[in-house]
Amino acid sequence: MKGTQNMAKQAAAHAALGYISPGMKLGLGSGSTAEFFVQALAAKGKEMDIRASATSARTEMLAQSLGIALFPLAELAPLDLTIDGADELDANLTLIKGGGGALLREKIVATASRRMIVIADEQKVVPQLGRFPLPIEVVPFAWQITMLHIDERARRVGCAGAIARREKNDEPFITDNGNFILDCAFGKIPNTEVLAAVLGTIPGIVEHGLFLDLADTALIGGPEGVRVMKSPRRK
Ligand code: 5RP
Repeated sequence: MKGTQNMAKQAAAHAALGYISPGMKLGLGSGSTAEFFVQALAAKGKEMDIRASATSARTEMLAQSLGIALFPLAELAPLDLTIDGADELDANLTLIKGGGGALLREKIVATASRRMIVIADEQKVVPQLGRFPLPIEVVPFAWQITMLHIDERARRVGCAGAIARREKNDEPFITDNGNFILDCAFGKIPNTEVLAAVLGTIPGIVEHGLFLDLADTALIGGPEGVRVMKSPRRK
């Protein structure tokens, strides 16, 4: 299963090369699919005069090791295109991101781009978002209180479920920004706009993993090859 899924991720990542033109300023996503893309890009990057900004320290390290020309986002923005993975996406190309803990920089980079293209394997496409627990980045200060507020307010909009601070090797997982991630197992999210609006009012939340109206295209790898999904909202 893992092997097939990786092949699908790789196929989607390679298909994204078709959207790159010489001289482009690119946002490089995070996660295994985005890393496949960074590796594929490296072969072409120099001859195409590509400049890029990374969405995580890990992607930055990889891109650097492959000789991709990297710049701080503030110097390079606006970007022409960001290519990134997702944990889940629906037919509107609303995304859940943050499985790798990079959602804040991913959202900043995508927002500073004229376009975002998602690359993913077929298993990430769902009729309704929420099977994958929603990651939320919170400041460490009194994070337990922030968690209570998330629980209370999310319940009011039909999102009830276990919320847990992400751990790695029995320690709290710390993001590139020095924050914690809360994984919220809400189950199916009845209305992503409403939930995003509610989360936007809670102090202590730095950013949440719902990406609304950012991606216009998704390249989905599967056993039959790569299919293209277009956002009905952003043509
Ligand atoms: C990282 C992300 C990734 O895009 C998401 O977790 C998908 O990862 P993968 O390509 O490894 O399945 O949002 O914060």
